[in-house]
Amino acid sequence: MASNFNIVEEIKSRCNIVDVVGRQVALKKTGYNHKGLCPFHNEKTPSFVVSEDKQIFTCFGCGATGDVIEFTKRYHNLDFQGALEKLAEECGLELQNTGFGAEGKKAQLYEINRETASFYHKRFSMEPNSAAAYMRSRELGPSVLKKFGIGYADAEWQSLFDYLSSKGYDRKLLLSLGLVSESGGKIYDKFRDRVVFPIISTSKKVIGFGGRTIGNGTPKYLNSQESPIFQKKNSLYGLNLTREDINREDCAILVEGYMDVISLYQYGIRNVSASLGTALTESQAMMLKRYTDNVILAYDADEAGQAAALRGMDILYAAGCNVKILQIPGGKDPDEYIKENGKEAFSALIKQALPFMDYKLSNIKKQVDLNTTAGNVFFLKEAARAMKCISPVEAETYIKKVASETGISEGAFRLEVFGSGFVTVPKNWENTEGRRKGGIDRSSLLELHLIRLMLLRSSYVPLIEPYKDFFETVSCYRIYEIIRSLYKPDEEIDLKQLQDSLDEESRAVLAHTLETVHIANRDKQVFEECVSHIRTIKKGKREEELIKILSILDDEKDSEKILELSKELMDIQRERYKGARNEL
Ligand code: CTP
Ligand code: MN
Repeated sequence: MASNFNIVEEIKSRCNIVDVVGRQVALKKTGYNHKGLCPFHNEKTPSFVVSEDKQIFTCFGCGATGDVIEFTKRYHNLDFQGALEKLAEECGLELQNTGFGAEGKKAQLYEINRETASFYHKRFSMEPNSAAAYMRSRELGPSVLKKFGIGYADAEWQSLFDYLSSKGYDRKLLLSLGLVSESGGKIYDKFRDRVVFPIISTSKKVIGFGGRTIGNGTPKYLNSQESPIFQKKNSLYGLNLTREDINREDCAILVEGYMDVISLYQYGIRNVSASLGTALTESQAMMLKRYTDNVILAYDADEAGQAAALRGMDILYAAGCNVKILQIPGGKDPDEYIKENGKEAFSALIKQALPFMDYKLSNIKKQVDLNTTAGNVFFLKEAARAMKCISPVEAETYIKKVASETGISEGAFRLEVFGSGFVTVPKNWENTEGRRKGGIDRSSLLELHLIRLMLLRSSYVPLIEPYKDFFETVSCYRIYEIIRSLYKPDEEIDLKQLQDSLDEESRAVLAHTLETVHIANRDKQVFEECVSHIRTIKKGKREEELIKILSILDDEKDSEKILELSKELMDIQRERYKGARNEL
């Protein structure tokens, strides 16, 4: 076992970044480097470069950069240790208790699933058979069925088992994939007399299967059991075929079932995927986020579907997505609706999809009679609860809206939302912004001065807004957000209300600011100094980024880009030099 002392170096030397990235991102070789679409932001032309030579990746578009471990961390949403473990496993390195050769075993499982998918698909294509007839009766054409690799599992007990055994696969592996079951010493196929839907990962591996009864048997759907290569919470059906459409449209339509995906796809609505009946998970949300931030939930109109939508939207919102809810009239699911009404009608529903907070509020409104006091109180409480998960700035918009729509007092509502203690900080607020945690000791003088300025004169609030990214600690950013939400032109910020809306740590930072930062009537000068300081920071960051990008560009292929970026770098450096001279 390699000691953890040199494990990082060992992993880096064993895991070629081009292979690791290449498993997730389609890379094209351009000269010395490899290029592809950046997985960390949405883009249509590739600006994501991987250097084999330097073993790093860099994106010109969003500035993401790092080594193979950093890539694994960000891509799979892991911490450092988690990334090490994953890479160690992939390169067959024993790290504490990861089993040796796990990756080799996985490769074999993928192979078996691939064989199985093609076995079932071949059977499906040999008409006549009941699965093909059934899918035709559901109005699905041959090309879409082929595209999704739909299969047929016949009604025999051992068709698949016999086939895979004849290929020499170990029955233990077949059992671990759940393709066959054992009972009373006998082995039999799990999927019998069913339409089979292969579930394929975005790296094009067959990870599992769903099987639907042909007709009305129960259970309606059977799914592969969890296995080393199939975790339901990490898979989204159809994404292997639709991720490019999702990226292109910058929007994903999330549905509940296999049939919904295939049906919408056939009708030309291709930016779709399904969460396969389970409640949406955080990791599914992160998967979608690689292709878009905009998600429309188009769950079934029944109670279960709507409850799943309500849970799903919180998860998506927490992951930093803009969520809308599409409502299907007549209690239909997307498949039934589009079949009956066509693509245009479904597109119209997409356009009418409600932003998730509007959806939640309208849902609450439906449950009460706003003409009664009890109804009002209930609405106030529930709406306030719903709003606790959004940022104070967003909440403010809805507070105004709700107040004007319902006649409930804005003040009462605000108090209910923000409470008299502190705001519950929404999850995405903390982790997506990549801000530093910690209080006074972590905050910069720049942040404290900006806060002080806004409290001195609220007219600085809109002036400082463009620089909000420079609130780099969570505490200062929270203070900023609350100030922003309390801001009204021509009124100073209500300090008491600000204090009451903050958590303990931020409140301490605020107190520290008020005590130690004194501006008096030098505010104009201080503001200008802050802005100039921000410019210097920005240039410094850009300089670092340029140096990194230039170091991995390809002399031959990227000569134009090199020229352009070198010029920019020189300008920055020249200016800094001039600045330094002037100070002497
Ligand atoms: N599901 C499941 N097991 C079940 C029922 C449903 O795993 N017993 C999952 C399947 O992934 C299914 C999804 O939940 O696709 C949605 O279920 P449902 O709305 O009942 O199925 P539809 O997709 O509408 O299927 P169909 O139109 O064929 O009835
Ligand atoms: Mn259906």
